Amino acid sequence: MLIGIQIERDKDLKNLESIYKLEIESFGEVAWSKSQLRTELENKNSYCILSKKEKEVIGYLLGRIILDEAELLRLAVKPLYRNKGVGRKLLETFLEDLKNQRIKKVFLEVSERNNRAYNLYLKLGFKPIYLRKNYYGKEANAIVMCYQI
Ligand SMILES: CC(C)(COP(=O)(O)OP(=O)(O)OC[C@H]1O[C@@H](n2cnc3c(N)ncnc32)[C@H](O)[C@@H]1OP(=O)(O)O)[C@@H](O)C(=O)NCCC(=O)NCCS
Repeated sequence: MLIGIQIERDKDLKNLESIYKLEIESFGEVAWSKSQLRTELENKNSYCILSKKEKEVIGYLLGRIILDEAELLRLAVKPLYRNKGVGRKLLETFLEDLKNQRIKKVFLEVSERNNRAYNLYLKLGFKPIYLRKNYYGKEANAIVMCYQI
């Protein structure tokens, strides 16, 4: 399924345009702006993993590591490449890297309406811990999930 798809750890700003394009494609009106993404990539605690096919960025994961905890901030795969295991591979790579850095816990927030992402997180071992009411506006709560390494 993942033939020809590479995984790279790379937070260089040269990828900003590609990440921004995917961000808009994947999150629409709740997409981060280019300057938010730039600030995040420049943050010394940020972590970025890309999946590429023939040099094209087709997926990305943005995370942040502070002391012995990490947060998953963004995860998106280009629509054409979804349901092929790319999202899972990005997340597994992140969790593996965190394990090697002796990180103890990983947190994330996901809309309770986002079944795809929620199922992926559950499958990889994240547990729902509480609900943030109306986090994504009226009627869209966020489920906060935690993964214990
Ligand atoms: C969520 C997202 C990153 C998943 O990426 P992906 O590459 O399509 O996911 P994968 O192919 O690796 O799927 C892994 C798991 O996700 C779940 N999943 C994927 N597509 C699904 C679907 N259509 N319906 C339900 N679950 C689905 C399954 O549990 C799947 O497990 P399986 O491989 O054992 O069947 C992708 O759908 C996306 O970019 N969505 C838009 C942005 C977004 O919502 N990001 C998450 C914000 S919290």
